[in-house]
Amino acid sequence: MANLLEMQAISKGFPGVKALSDVSISLDKGEVLGIVGENGAGKSTLMKILAGVFPPDAGKMQLEGAPFAPHRPRDALDAGIIVIHQELSLVPDRSVAENIFLGNLPRGALGAVRRAQLNRQAKTLLERVGLAVSPQARVRHLGIAQQQLVEIARALSRSARVIVMDEPTATLTTAEQRILFATIEALRDAGVGLVFISHHLEEVFEICNRVTVLRDGMAVETRSVGDWTEASLIQAMVNRPIDALFPERHAVVGDILLEVEGLAAPGAFSDVSFAVRAGEVVGLGGLIGAGRTEVLKTIYGALASSGGRVRVGTRDARIRSPRDAIAAGLAFVPEDRKGEGLVMPFPIRSNLALSTLGKLSWFRSILAPKRIDRLADKTVAELRIRTPNTRQVVQSLSGGNQQKVVLGRALTTHPRVFLLDEPTRGIDVGAKVEVYRLINALAEQGSAILVVSSDMIELLGICDRILVMRAGRLAGALPRSEFSQERVMQLAALG
Ligand SMILES: Nc1ncnc2c1ncn2[C@@H]1O[C@H](COP(=O)(O)OP(=O)(O)OP(=O)(O)O)[C@@H](O)[C@H]1O
Ligand SMILES: [Mg+2]
Repeated sequence: MANLLEMQAISKGFPGVKALSDVSISLDKGEVLGIVGENGAGKSTLMKILAGVFPPDAGKMQLEGAPFAPHRPRDALDAGIIVIHQELSLVPDRSVAENIFLGNLPRGALGAVRRAQLNRQAKTLLERVGLAVSPQARVRHLGIAQQQLVEIARALSRSARVIVMDEPTATLTTAEQRILFATIEALRDAGVGLVFISHHLEEVFEICNRVTVLRDGMAVETRSVGDWTEASLIQAMVNRPIDALFPERHAVVGDILLEVEGLAAPGAFSDVSFAVRAGEVVGLGGLIGAGRTEVLKTIYGALASSGGRVRVGTRDARIRSPRDAIAAGLAFVPEDRKGEGLVMPFPIRSNLALSTLGKLSWFRSILAPKRIDRLADKTVAELRIRTPNTRQVVQSLSGGNQQKVVLGRALTTHPRVFLLDEPTRGIDVGAKVEVYRLINALAEQGSAILVVSSDMIELLGICDRILVMRAGRLAGALPRSEFSQERVMQLAALG
């Protein structure tokens, strides 16, 4: 009997990069296939070929035994193949309901959209993915995790034979992830074939039936999930030993570098007070929507505060804009790399230089190309950013490598205080260890680090202290000696 989907000997090159060589995978009905691999291994490229975004250079596909060669995304959709891409593709100024049914809106006799029906159907789908927002809300006002859930609701709105989720959980909290997994199981039991791409290996072990490892554009091995161990999977992915996920830190804790007192931002959070010392890594935990990102942005001057004080070192810092923040010695790594972090059509080197050179960047980049090249080469090497050279546009990088560029840029300003929002979102295991090493090195050099992460294991692994937020307030603080997932969850959910 033919498989649901076969991709056979697929190859694809981009200028300077062989993204896929001779990759074959198969998918059965009622199966979840995991695809794992380092940043730039070719996972998203393989799925874009399946989705009809671009054709392969060589190789072919079969769907239930029949040849399948989509010329455009529409062809794949019509064949029942739904790919939720890593970089979300919603229309910000349309409502949640309109986005869910985009290209598929229920219409009346005269072609008018049936609003009531639209919103009713959207509401049902939103409940299935556990997203508590109004169908009429603009997508623009949603956080990344919420947008991710809207994409998933959109996939559910169509009758699918194959659903691909390219890092669906990168932004989700535990509760949302539970709902997503229940949804995946229901789809699987209904005979849908699913592809699940993730850097969270524990999730891969939980939800997948078989796992394929891609490395350097090649399919190294496929085994049923029980035949992999975490160690063998990592070994196959990175092909080099990784000793400890959370390297040890030997920082000496010094004076207070960042002090926040009674900070508030209208509608987001209030009465937030804490301090971070030199050499300290402090985590900010909590559920999505608890106000963590807003706290970072307000400290950084990207959101207006409605009260409170921020002190950097021993001085009151009057931070009204990110420019003031950088001058005061702060650096911010945003969660939304596409929206706020990067200028996608610009080269890596210009993106890395943006913060240091500020307003003069274009003028100075003409004057100091050598300096920028040195800076860019150093950062690319340090963070293992995978690219043929630093003149490549950021758009052409894999998702995880884009994230590394955002991180790299923050480093170039030599800040004393780092505000990191989901710094390892979408980053592979090997690169995560690099990022943790980097955080340690920064702390050892006397920086203060405040980090928001939805990955609880990560927070417990890298922080000296965890502050937990709930509904716009600090619900509590845990020192290392009191660290446990249960304690963080308790504070996050119950206060
Ligand atoms: N449009 C493009 N133009 C040029 N190069 C590209 C393009 N798309 C992908 N690449 C390159 O192809 C390779 C594979 O990228 P891909 O996005 O498939 O990786 P990935 O496995 O999904 O990584 P990640 O885990 O970071 O998302 C990378 O080297 C990337 O830079
Ligand atoms: Mg990818």
